Amino acid sequence: MVRTAKFTLHPEFQIGTVDPRLFGSFIEHLGRAVYGGIYEPGHPSADRDGFRQDVIKLVKEMNVPLVRYPGGNFVSGYNWEDGIGPRDQRPRRLDLAWKSIETNQVGTNEFLTWCRKVEAEAMIAVNLGTRGADAARNLVEYCNHPSGTYWSDLRVAHGFKEPHHIRTWCLGNEMDGSWQIGHKTAEEYSRLACETAKVMKWIDPTIELVASGSSFVGMPTFPDWEETVLSETYEQVDYISLHTYLGNLENNTAHYLAKPLEMDRYISTVVNTCDVIKAKKHSKKNIQLSFDEWNVYHEWEQPEAMKARPWLVAPPLLEESYTVEDALVVGGMLITLLKHSDRVKIACMAQLVNVFAPVMTVNGGICWKQSTYYPFVQASRFGRGQALDLNIHSPTYEDREYGPVPYLEAVGIWNQENEYLTIFAVNRDTQSSLSIEADVRAFAGYKVVEHITLTQRDLKAGNTLDHPDRVVPRKNGDARLEKGTLRATLPGVSWNMIRLAAGSH
Ligand code: AHR
Repeated sequence: MVRTAKFTLHPEFQIGTVDPRLFGSFIEHLGRAVYGGIYEPGHPSADRDGFRQDVIKLVKEMNVPLVRYPGGNFVSGYNWEDGIGPRDQRPRRLDLAWKSIETNQVGTNEFLTWCRKVEAEAMIAVNLGTRGADAARNLVEYCNHPSGTYWSDLRVAHGFKEPHHIRTWCLGNEMDGSWQIGHKTAEEYSRLACETAKVMKWIDPTIELVASGSSFVGMPTFPDWEETVLSETYEQVDYISLHTYLGNLENNTAHYLAKPLEMDRYISTVVNTCDVIKAKKHSKKNIQLSFDEWNVYHEWEQPEAMKARPWLVAPPLLEESYTVEDALVVGGMLITLLKHSDRVKIACMAQLVNVFAPVMTVNGGICWKQSTYYPFVQASRFGRGQALDLNIHSPTYEDREYGPVPYLEAVGIWNQENEYLTIFAVNRDTQSSLSIEADVRAFAGYKVVEHITLTQRDLKAGNTLDHPDRVVPRKNGDARLEKGTLRATLPGVSWNMIRLAAGSH
């Protein structure tokens, strides 16, 4: 049975302006993200700085405006000073977060050089696990102070005359988690974050700071953690972080496709928590959200397995193979972020290369795009402008955890400047296609440009080294306009991008 969902596209149903940083990503010193991922000096495509140009090409296609670095769990044991200066003098260290050997051949300056090549800004996390205010303030001085002081002159001596001007900084990572090196209680973290934030901003008042929120919505301390942290740091910080990894652990596609609703509720709770603290403080300032780790996953290495592994440089870790259904959940997560673009200003798909990644590489060999690459690229390219609430009326199915789940998940984007309208939509129906009927009379003169779908009969199919193009989007949708009504058929279990544009576009 083909069901019908209805909605309206209207310029007055604006949610907010999409901050381009919503399409950020993440590179951690973890597995082969850095070594063998972005950096491999012996690779045939390596440039003179040792960066793989084949990877740079794919990352540039993704139009990623911001990349978080260097962790993640890694940052909680990291001495940033190990990664600067002459490479042959840099120490090899044990990285306890991922039981690996860190050679420090890539550090802050190399990463920022790579960021310039992919035209992204960096979002740098400071270590609040084993270190604190002193190391953090020195790093800000090293990166952002023009010259004439110990740390800024050292940067100049290292070949970077101009300051790096890092705008956004994370105050630690997942400090509420017992797995974190230097795990802290909310009170301990709050005091440290507050004092660290204070001195970082004294050095450079233009920077923006992200307080570490809960590691995930299921943490027993959520949302008390947010309440305590924001009560202590409200005036010092600008964002609070959120992290979510969704998986089809139950092997139930309909349930998996509904999971972005969990992300939706998580965001609403954090927004409410921020605003309660705002009210208590009688503050005029809004704390915004930085969803700086989000993605889908299949398996996480358990601590026992990690302990049993030998110490290695850049071992392959968390190298997931993504499927069609994973791509759809990523699409649902992108739609969720866009639907909250009034408060979520930064988001980082975690991660970018090899680790839970849209881009995979072979050491010394090729790189390819996973299924999850495609919804991200489309959203990053056409998801910029005003996010529009579609006022959706969709038939639903019952899920034991989420209750009634709409078959249709969708958001509209209106790019007023370029006069284009984009609808990103997921049909969650595992049995049938879904008809959509949208009232677009308010956008007179707009015409359908394309309707791209991503779907396949085999929902577990994915791209591999041998079959890198098994899952690709196709321009085969039937979206059409009839007297102010947009009609289309969304195939069963599909990601869709429908684009309209005005006049001659
Ligand atoms: O992205 C992998 C890990 O997931 C990060 O290091 C950590 O912050 C999160 O738990």
